[in-house]
Amino acid sequence: MRKPFIVGNWKMNLSLKEAVQLAGDIKSESAGVKNVDIGICPPFVFISSVYDVIKGSSVILGAQNVHDEDGGAFTGEVAGFMAKEAGCTYVIIGHSERRHVFGETDEFINRKLKKCVSIELAPIFCVGEKLEQREAGKTNDVIGEQLRNGLKDFTADAAGKLVIAYEPVWAIGTGKTATPDQANEVHAFIRDVLSTEFGAKVAGDMVIQYGGSVKPDNIKELLLQNDIDGALVGGASLKADSFLSMIKTADSL
Ligand code: PGA
Repeated sequence: MRKPFIVGNWKMNLSLKEAVQLAGDIKSESAGVKNVDIGICPPFVFISSVYDVIKGSSVILGAQNVHDEDGGAFTGEVAGFMAKEAGCTYVIIGHSERRHVFGETDEFINRKLKKCVSIELAPIFCVGEKLEQREAGKTNDVIGEQLRNGLKDFTADAAGKLVIAYEPVWAIGTGKTATPDQANEVHAFIRDVLSTEFGAKVAGDMVIQYGGSVKPDNIKELLLQNDIDGALVGGASLKADSFLSMIKTADSL
C-alpha cells in the first residue's frame, strides 16, 4: 500500500517570518492527519529555522537541491550531508527549473541521485516533458530517457529509496494542470519503466507524485487515479489554508 506523500516546494519564496509562520501552521493544523505523509522544502537559508519549528512533529523537511560533491570550490552550492545535518530527510533532484533554467543534465542529476541515496538523503526525482515534446508525441520517449539516464547504474535496492515526481513542464506555475487521465497515463508508463528496470515489486512500492498547478480544487481527482500517489506542490503550498486543505482532502480519501 502506497501512502500519499504531499510536499510543498516553496521555491525562492517567502520571508523568514513568513516561512516560520507557515511551518508552524502546517505543524499544528496537520497534527491529526494519519493517512498522508507531509513534507515542506523551504529555501536553504530558512531550513534550520523551519526545522526548529517542525521538529518532533510528523512534518518532513526537504531541500530543493543539493550538489553531488561532499565539499570544495563550488561557490553557492550546498552538499547533501549539509542539508541532512540541517534536518532534511528528503531533497528534490532534477526539478525542471534546475534542468531548464540552470542547465542541469541527466548525467549531473544521476550523480546527485547516487550521492543522495548513499548518504540516506531520500531524493524526490523529478521528470517531465516540455509542451513541444508532448505535442510532438514524444512524452514517453522523454520521460523514459530521463528515468533511465537519471537512474543509470542503480540497483533495485537503491532505486527503491526514491520518490518520483512527474511534473509536465507546461503545467508548472502556469495554472494548466494535466487532466487526471493524462497524468495517470504517464504515471503508469513511469511505473512500467521502473518495473522493467528494477522489478515489479520495487516499482509497485514506489511513490510517484504528480506536480504542476496542483491546487485544492483539482487534487482529489488526481489522487483518485491508480498510479498517482501524492503531489509536489509549488504555488498552492505557500499559503497554510490551501496547503492544509489539500492535505485534508488526501487524508479523507
Ligand atoms: P506549481 O509548481 O504547483 O506552482 O505548478 C510545482 C513544482 O514546480 O513543483
